[in-house]
Amino acid sequence: NAAAAGIPIHCSLLLTEARDRHMLRLLVLHGPNLNLLGTREPSVYGQASLPDIDKSIVRRAGERGIAVQTKQTNVEGELVTWIQNARGHFDGIIINPAAYTHTSIAIRDAIAAVALPTVEVHLSNIHQREEFRHHSFIAGVALGQLSGFGPTGYLLALHALAAHLEAVSKASRPRTAPKNKPTASRR
Ligand code: DQA
Repeated sequence: NAAAAGIPIHCSLLLTEARDRHMLRLLVLHGPNLNLLGTREPSVYGQASLPDIDKSIVRRAGERGIAVQTKQTNVEGELVTWIQNARGHFDGIIINPAAYTHTSIAIRDAIAAVALPTVEVHLSNIHQREEFRHHSFIAGVALGQLSGFGPTGYLLALHALAAHLEAVSKASRPRTAPKNKPTASRR
């Protein structure tokens, strides 16, 4: 069991296996400049590198029996394509769109189009920072937003998204009629 062993899910074969095992499959996307974490403005973004963060996400997912794939790009269109391609392969998305949060209608539209529950994560508290970071084009189509908790935000997002998906799948399961329930009889 690759995910339980804490191994990231790399290919569609493993995703198919995860689906067949009824594991939740989550896609974690990191936007521009997040590849520089660790050296990039550490007073704002902390000391952890992106591989450190990804490792902790994969480890936590493995503990919960969730399959995760993590990806980073500096290219807006690549994020759009990955979101589009997530349909049918993933149950939900965790995304830190980085600076595209504040500019990208294309990423917002892709999330709305695939209609996969999506959690928006920011390492820093965007509402405490410059005015131009206060607005998120993503928030309106996201299940929720976690901002200001550093790398822990990704783990909180994982728990929140898994709890949401589990609640949705429980609610949609057909209810089985209780056995041997005495029927009330009226005279
Ligand atoms: C960020 C916040 C954005 O405003 C910024 O452009 C980033 C990172 C964060 O994780 O705090 O690149 O998304």
